Amino acid sequence: MANFLTRGANGLMDWVNARAPGMMPVYRKHMTEYYAPKNFNLWYYFGSLALLVLVNQIVTGIFLTMHFKPSAAEAFSSVEYIMRDVEWGWLIRYMHSTGASLFFIVVYLHMFRGLMYGSYQKPRELVWILGMLIYLVLMAEAFMGYVLPWGQMSFWGAKVIISLFGAIPVIGNGLTEWIMGDYLPGDATLNRFFALHVIALPLVLLLLVVLHLGALHEVGSNNPDGIDIKYGPKGNRWDAAKPKDGIPFHPYYTVKDLVGVGFFLMLAAFIIFFAPSFGGWFLEHDNFTEANRLVTPEHIKPVWYFTPYYAMLRVVPSFFAIKLWGVLVMFAAIAVLFMVPWLDRSPVKSYRYRGLLSKLMLGLFAVCFLWLGKIGAGPGTDPVETIIGQVLTFLYFAFFITMPLWTKLDKTKPVPERVTMHD
Ligand code: HEM
Repeated sequence: MANFLTRGANGLMDWVNARAPGMMPVYRKHMTEYYAPKNFNLWYYFGSLALLVLVNQIVTGIFLTMHFKPSAAEAFSSVEYIMRDVEWGWLIRYMHSTGASLFFIVVYLHMFRGLMYGSYQKPRELVWILGMLIYLVLMAEAFMGYVLPWGQMSFWGAKVIISLFGAIPVIGNGLTEWIMGDYLPGDATLNRFFALHVIALPLVLLLLVVLHLGALHEVGSNNPDGIDIKYGPKGNRWDAAKPKDGIPFHPYYTVKDLVGVGFFLMLAAFIIFFAPSFGGWFLEHDNFTEANRLVTPEHIKPVWYFTPYYAMLRVVPSFFAIKLWGVLVMFAAIAVLFMVPWLDRSPVKSYRYRGLLSKLMLGLFAVCFLWLGKIGAGPGTDPVETIIGQVLTFLYFAFFITMPLWTKLDKTKPVPERVTMHD
């Protein structure tokens, strides 16, 4: 049987090869002859997991779209219909809603890995920039998706976030109206967000992911040691002499990544089956009530993955009665991440070989981001918390602005000649 299948597969491959001989070299370049460093650790699972979640979102999204009604009058009840009457509809919806949060967990860990191992440094600046563009599009995609079920938080969240554009001088109000297509979020808003969420942004996302991986495969993967893998005797990456410290992506890393996929699916299944709203963190309680423009929820707040930025927006005071500062700070917090490859002046990539100062700074940054996330998820009424939020916002920016200084001052350790295998 196995023999029969192998012969069938080989025959099919020969048939395709005879008609499209250009396809095999592409497969080889990106899979069987893509030499990845042999010392990848657990942090290297999150790229493939992000791909997995992307596929999950697209597949479950297609099935949701078959039953969802993108109109203010019907959206909420069509989601209830999916949950109660459509065969397996509840599963498809929870896979999609849980997938959204898991996407951000995976992407945040993936980004943090990049920061730890200096994967954004030369020659991988473009990989980082494309990753940041993915992050931006992902945020827009998640925001618009959240509006679609037309619950209370969908409506009020959309109102608060779109109204931020109103803080822009002169064009602000016109811009807000243009985005909403109305004076409040309504049918027109829901319709255009649906179009953007189900087709326009996913297409952009897919294109960016292809470019992200294409750019990575041009320069090769970084690794926990942050050093280049040493090449074979001819010194050429793609010649017959294989890099000494690299192993073919397929089959070695495809198999390794499958182990990560197994664990990840168990975790995802546990959440989907036992805690799909995750205590209000993945699906907020207020969103189980239909949108009502006459009743404001007690606390309007975004889903957890936006709360660090939302905290910044709230804690920045309106100097000279201008509301714009909070908005600017929030956008600057994201924009500054694009600059990291040029702010880091360290001669070594990986934090393994950096000094205490760099480690402390990165740790402080992670604490600031998480703590801001907690503040952004709260009601925002405690004045002490507001002051803490201001200090954390200051530290968040200080991390980036002073980066050229502390990465230069830091005492680095000697970098090994060849990649190391201990963790
Ligand atoms: C849909 C979202 C994303 C997908 C599917 C994705 C996919 C991947 C994959 C498959 C890899 C190679 C495997 C690995 O190194 O883990 C990778 C590498 C990388 N990604 Fe992403 N990525 C995404 C988002 C991002 C974001 C938001 C950033 C940062 C802003 C980023 C930065 C990087 C960097 C720097 C590398 C190279 C890492 C290294 O060689 O050490 N990615 N990505």
